[in-house]
Amino acid sequence: KMIKKGIILAGGHGTRMSPLTKAVNKQLLPIYDKPLIFYPLSILMLSKIKEILIIINKGQLNQYRKILPDGRNLGIKIIYKEQSYPKGLPDAFLLGEKFIGKDNVALILGDNFFYGQSLSKTLLDCVKLKKGAKVLLHKVSKPELYGLAKVKGRNKIVSIKEKPKKYFSDLAITGLYFFDKNVVKFSKQLKPSKRGELEITDLLNRYKKKQQLYADYIGRGGAWLDTGSIEDFYKTSAFVSAIENRQGFKISCIEEIALNNKWISKKNIIEAIKFYGKCQYSDYLKKLI
Ligand code: G1P
Repeated sequence: KMIKKGIILAGGHGTRMSPLTKAVNKQLLPIYDKPLIFYPLSILMLSKIKEILIIINKGQLNQYRKILPDGRNLGIKIIYKEQSYPKGLPDAFLLGEKFIGKDNVALILGDNFFYGQSLSKTLLDCVKLKKGAKVLLHKVSKPELYGLAKVKGRNKIVSIKEKPKKYFSDLAITGLYFFDKNVVKFSKQLKPSKRGELEITDLLNRYKKKQQLYADYIGRGGAWLDTGSIEDFYKTSAFVSAIENRQGFKISCIEEIALNNKWISKKNIIEAIKFYGKCQYSDYLKKLI
């Protein structure tokens, strides 16, 4: 039994990227040749997750529906839930309570970018999670910006801290999490932190205390990039552009992933080409069929 449901948290005000984010949600802004939201969505699709809840800001449903209607065009199911204001990452599980039901669930932050040769294999391993919680760790040069973990052996997390000022570990907890069904119950028990938000680190600590917090890795051959600031958008776009133009393959072409997963047929690709119109993304889709 694999994890079948996933949540993309695409709320937040994107204040660090204003004025770009005044009229458009950050996750709809471009990373090179496609909206940012395509990248985390691809990660869930590569994990063979077909039931997806996207949490967005109040008032942005029409924007999203224009580019990602209901998932049928990708052979998946996409539903939306609006968040009135950002209350912290675990709020995803409170808003998603009905969606999750009694199932295990994955959460990906809407602004996280992952890339790498063995990524799909890692993901397909992560969705096998039965009990507890699993996070993906990645060694970074500026650990103070992230939630961090200390591990025992390879896969057991013994200690975590959110953005500590003093050196603690250089293994960042990336924004992709896999949880068992207790996640809703645990999220309900959390209290807001000093900054007034529910903290993902507090939630992960619940699992750690039960010795059920596990690690997997995005190794040095993989990339986990930030898209938090305008500068990060440029750097990540440059990365995507370099790889795509060198190889002629697109990163996170959602229709290509759906086709490879055999969730859609050539007919759907033809419809997608019509939908996008004359553009290089459509040219790429043409090559797939
Ligand atoms: C959040 C989490 C942090 C994690 C990071 C990954 O931080 O709180 O633990 O390492 O996402 O992107 P934020 O970037 O929202 O400050």
